Amino acid sequence: MLNKYDDLIMKGVILDCLGNLMLEKFGSDTWNACLIDAGFDKDARFFASQDVEDEDTLKLVGAVCNHLNITLEQAADVFGDYWVNNYAPKIYKIYYTLFKSSKDFLLQMDRVHLQMTKNMPNAHPPRFEYQWEDDNTLIMKYKSERNLIDFLVGLIKGVGNYFNEDLDVTKLDNMNVRVKFP
Ligand code: HEM
Repeated sequence: MLNKYDDLIMKGVILDCLGNLMLEKFGSDTWNACLIDAGFDKDARFFASQDVEDEDTLKLVGAVCNHLNITLEQAADVFGDYWVNNYAPKIYKIYYTLFKSSKDFLLQMDRVHLQMTKNMPNAHPPRFEYQWEDDNTLIMKYKSERNLIDFLVGLIKGVGNYFNEDLDVTKLDNMNVRVKFP
């Protein structure tokens, strides 16, 4: 069940990515139907810097789950993989040249989110804290006003795929994800 986030807004970049994914993998009929179900115009387009109410973003994610008959966790996995491997490499190339492993990449995500949103009005980037259980086991603590930990899990799995590393990713609770590196 998706929560309701009355006062929060998210950058349109997330929905632009979702739209690209849906058009590429599932076609315009399905995407247009999702847009309509979520109360958007059927030809709606999203721009990276646009502000979209979280409530509307989550309605659209909910419509995608309904139309594809998948759970929120499955949608988060598909989205996370597409964001990390298809969408972000095109528009945020620089970060992909800086980091050489999933460990390096994940450990920089707190700084990256903070830095890239610092001049974006109305951004509410997630923050991450890192704690090592042992040399290969990282606990990523998710700090956000949203409750999108399933997306964190999907994004981390996507990072593993990008670097061809077999990560073992487990949601421990609504704030903590355990990542075992190979
Ligand atoms: C170069 C790669 C990445 C860039 C440039 C990036 C950038 C962004 C931006 C601009 C937002 C929207 C923030 C807002 O509207 O306030 C966002 C949201 C988010 N990002 Fe990333 N991101 C990247 C990779 C990742 C990765 C790998 C993870 C997980 C490890 C992650 C976790 C999240 C989550 C969970 C959100 C949803 C917002 C929330 O939960 O509060 N991102 N990201």
